Amino acid sequence: MASFGDFLPPLLLLATVFSRPALCYINPPTSRPQQNVAESSAYRNYIVLVEPLPSDAGEDAHRRWHESFLPSLRADESIQPRLLHSYTEVFNGFTARLTKPELDSVAKKPGFIRAFPDRILQLMTTHTPAFLGLRNGTGLWSDAGFGKGVIIGLLDTGIHATHPSFDDHGIPPPPSRWKGSCKAARCNNKLIGAKSFAGDDSGDKDGHGTHTSSTAAGNFIPGAYHGIGTGTAAGIAPGAHIAMYKVCADDCEESAILAGLDEAIKDGVDVLSLSFGPYKGTSFDQDLVAIGALSAVSKGIVVVCAGGNDGPILGSITNDAPWLLTVAAGSVDRSFDAEVRLGNGKSIHGEALTQEANPSSKSYPLLFSEARRHCEYDHDNSIVGKILVCEAIVSYSPKSEVQGLIGAGAAGVVFFNDKTSGYTTLLQDYNSSVVQVTAADGAILTSYAASPGRRFVASLAYNNTLLGIHPAPVVSSFSSRGPSSNVPGILKPDILAPGLNILAAWPPNTDSESGPFNIISGTSMATPHISGVAALIKSVHPSWSPAAIKSAILTTSDMVNSTGGPILDQQHRKASAYDTGAGHVNAARAADPGLVYDLGTADYAGYICCLLGDNGLATIVRNSSLTCAMLPKVKDVQLNYPTITVPMTSMPFTVNRTVTNVGPATSSYMAKVDAPKTLVVRVFPETLTFSKAGEKKTFSVTVSSHGVGKEELVEGSLRWVSEKHVVRSPIVASAGAAGHSCTLAAFPVSVP
Ligand SMILES: *[C@@H]1O[C@H](CO)[C@@H](O)[C@H](O)[C@H]1NC(C)=O
Ligand SMILES: *[C@@H]1O[C@H](CO)[C@@H](O)[C@H](O)[C@H]1NC(C)=O
Ligand SMILES: *[C@@H]1O[C@H](CO)[C@@H](O)[C@H](O)[C@H]1NC(C)=O
Ligand SMILES: *[C@@H]1O[C@H](CO)[C@@H](O)[C@H](O)[C@H]1NC(C)=O
Ligand SMILES: *[C@@H]1O[C@H](CO)[C@@H](O)[C@H](O)[C@H]1NC(C)=O
Ligand SMILES: *[C@@H]1O[C@H](CO)[C@@H](O)[C@H](O)[C@H]1NC(C)=O
Repeated sequence: MASFGDFLPPLLLLATVFSRPALCYINPPTSRPQQNVAESSAYRNYIVLVEPLPSDAGEDAHRRWHESFLPSLRADESIQPRLLHSYTEVFNGFTARLTKPELDSVAKKPGFIRAFPDRILQLMTTHTPAFLGLRNGTGLWSDAGFGKGVIIGLLDTGIHATHPSFDDHGIPPPPSRWKGSCKAARCNNKLIGAKSFAGDDSGDKDGHGTHTSSTAAGNFIPGAYHGIGTGTAAGIAPGAHIAMYKVCADDCEESAILAGLDEAIKDGVDVLSLSFGPYKGTSFDQDLVAIGALSAVSKGIVVVCAGGNDGPILGSITNDAPWLLTVAAGSVDRSFDAEVRLGNGKSIHGEALTQEANPSSKSYPLLFSEARRHCEYDHDNSIVGKILVCEAIVSYSPKSEVQGLIGAGAAGVVFFNDKTSGYTTLLQDYNSSVVQVTAADGAILTSYAASPGRRFVASLAYNNTLLGIHPAPVVSSFSSRGPSSNVPGILKPDILAPGLNILAAWPPNTDSESGPFNIISGTSMATPHISGVAALIKSVHPSWSPAAIKSAILTTSDMVNSTGGPILDQQHRKASAYDTGAGHVNAARAADPGLVYDLGTADYAGYICCLLGDNGLATIVRNSSLTCAMLPKVKDVQLNYPTITVPMTSMPFTVNRTVTNVGPATSSYMAKVDAPKTLVVRVFPETLTFSKAGEKKTFSVTVSSHGVGKEELVEGSLRWVSEKHVVRSPIVASAGAAGHSCTLAAFPVSVP
């Protein structure tokens, strides 16, 4: 093998590439000590950003350029490859195995921009098309041909290619622009790409990737899950193509995610679905997935991301960059009904994934012990012949322990949610007599079991799958909440979608389940619903930008449920914009928004200049013909976003927005404001009149607000109403949003 250090790019190339100085380097040795200090001789994977080559340089030239940064092999070194990934699309750079001293010398080479240590990211772990208003033969499904001709790329744990959800009946071949392929997987017109960047094959040992893929674009299959959740299963865009980029095996390494992202951009996907998140509060110049995603968005790819499962704590939202579509999770109107019939004649309805066909109607004594609140009955004969009432541990109590209790003679277990989870019941298939109930019903059960002089017995009964359950949707307790610490002036999450107890495809023989379907929860599950909706819109409007597609989804979403009541949170209180974003996705309306709020790369670049200055621009946007001096600096609150956030202040604060007419050529819209008394909103002008398609109109919104007490936010909304359309934007006056001016922040130094 040739020594890596020998290659030198031609001098002419050097002149173009090195026209600017190298911008930054990894922290000098004198800076703060690291946790888990690695020995200086230890190897670690580093992701290195370098100056780009001219765009027509071939793949070999890129690889040689990347190799030129690497040290020569030492004589005593094994021949393990140094260069693990070479990136050209997400940014120009590579991942290499290096020691700290070697990294220091890489950082001194001309063309080096910045290096980041590789990190591990977290995965965020049907009836839903109908719940979102999609029906056979009507509306968007028929207009969009179920998402025909659109390619959804998923970065995930792989895919079980032979699952019937990925049959290609009725699906035409992929468009000719598609450059992807399948390696070591059976592909067809549904699954048109499968590549692995984590392990040898693209198969799915976990199940997560099979589940998300089938949610986004699984084909129609009649049949169901364990005989429950009956009906035809289908993804949101059952006519779309799927490409799987396996980037997680046991872990999701950032370097592998970037490799998958790089490949997906090259292959030509239209929509990217990312169900994992960065470390919370990672700033954009440290968040390589956000940086890579901006490249994808600049190329017209819609990037949909999970908002995270760290709710209900305020400020827990991740994947919050303005160019991403950030998804929160809620419930659907379905219940796998199970009943606890009490000896006093009352009955409590919970849910059970194991629905016993012929349960005995026999009553058993209930057992609740405060001291054994979480079912800590180890080798305890008192449980024999009793139904145990226990609090679920973070809504997931291990299956093996439960089966142990039943094996030891318990007649059943009723798990109630902890207070924080409230009405969010994360179902698990215990394959035994287990019923899961809400925290409120848990309180009823525990007081019944404790009340003296009663014959506190109960029996369990099952009532299969019920639809039309209300209230729905309800925001799930785990769904991460705004406000975003990175962009306090933009409302995040963007949108709420089904993510609780979602039924979708599953591979056979994983540790947790045997397939072919499984029910799991997370913002991971909400994300592919939005990816599917984005694909449906893209199919009808192939030329729309990612920002226009996001705008269409947000401004057509629902603030209320199907009977007009407010959407509720996990405690059944009215949900706030920090829980739901713009609202709950309404797929049926999303392709016909009337007006859109558009944004392009130059706008995001202007925002980055405001936030981080030229150094941030060089890391995040990396376009050598752009400098902050030539870009208008845009504050977060002033980005042309489809939601409106302003600082909470009694001084009138004005933001401008520009809408593009994508509805009827001639149309007129009137401004309608809904706001509490504490939020005073003026819109100017109050009427927008359009005479052609694609016409743009600018308006201003001036808001003053009076926070009452310690409120984090006051919210209202602006609706532009025409004969055929309602274009709604929430208006959020936020205690955290600053009207501050742009800073030329000191460039933060990355810490390995
Ligand atoms: C909907 O249409 C698809 C494709 O035409 C078909 O395969 C599927 O069975 C239909 N589903 C229902 C519930 O009618
Ligand atoms: C569920 O339990 C039944 C016996 O009650 C057993 O036959 C079956 O294999 C179990 N299934 C799983 C997936 O553990
Ligand atoms: C069981 O479900 C049916 C509808 O499928 C409903 O009419 C009935 O009331 C339910 N029974 C109980 C006990 O909830
Ligand atoms: C709508 O929400 C209200 C409360 O906000 C609730 O009482 C009602 O049951 C909900 N309806 C549906 C269909 O979810
Ligand atoms: C860099 O920015 C310029 C000016 O906006 C633009 O014309 C060009 O396409 C951009 N280059 C890339 C590679 O995005
Ligand atoms: C908003 O638009 C008005 C009128 O075009 C302009 O005077 C004002 O400077 C704009 N404000 C901002 C913050 O861009």
